[in-house]
Amino acid sequence: MTVEPERGGEAGEPNGLGLRWRIKDSFVRYVVGNAGGRYSLTGGADLVADRYFAFPFAESGPEALPRFAGGVAFRAHGGMLRVAIVAPALRELDGRTVLTVGTGEEQLAIATLDIPAHDGGWVGAVPRLTESGCDLFGGGYELGEPLDPLESWSGIPRSTTA
Ligand code: HEM
Repeated sequence: MTVEPERGGEAGEPNGLGLRWRIKDSFVRYVVGNAGGRYSLTGGADLVADRYFAFPFAESGPEALPRFAGGVAFRAHGGMLRVAIVAPALRELDGRTVLTVGTGEEQLAIATLDIPAHDGGWVGAVPRLTESGCDLFGGGYELGEPLDPLESWSGIPRSTTA
């Protein structure tokens, strides 16, 4: 199933914050290499470099954790492999910090974070796959498999006019 972006094109008020994230470089390499596939950017996501993605800041969630806009859609094996990472967000769920992605209907908790996410502690955190995250990647990884670390980005300068 193709997952549509939750907030197509709406990156919200740029405040100088965003998420830089390779997602999982071994997966991206697999998609564009052995699996003969490609990825496409949706809803304001951009490339920092080859296989290195930038998701603009969208809003602060209820727990003051950031939500980002845009998505990356992977397609390979003639369409059998379709995985979309859309509108990644950090949330508190049952006392843990989780990384969610949008499915078009809900935010799916695909990974838990190694370290507490408050006060910017999510920067550099390694997300580890939940069962839902394993399902998202078609069962190609074990529970707890690390994704690539989350990085912050301040590529959009704030206005400096008084
Ligand atoms: C025609 C169907 C498929 C074939 C023949 C196939 C084959 C393979 C092979 C040989 C590998 C290991 C070798 C490598 O890393 O390059 C692999 C890895 C993997 N496959 Fe597939 N696959 C298929 C479909 C899918 C689908 C539908 C998904 C997900 C929706 C998927 C997700 C993965 C993942 C996550 C890995 C691990 C990549 C990594 O991080 O190294 N595959 N696949």
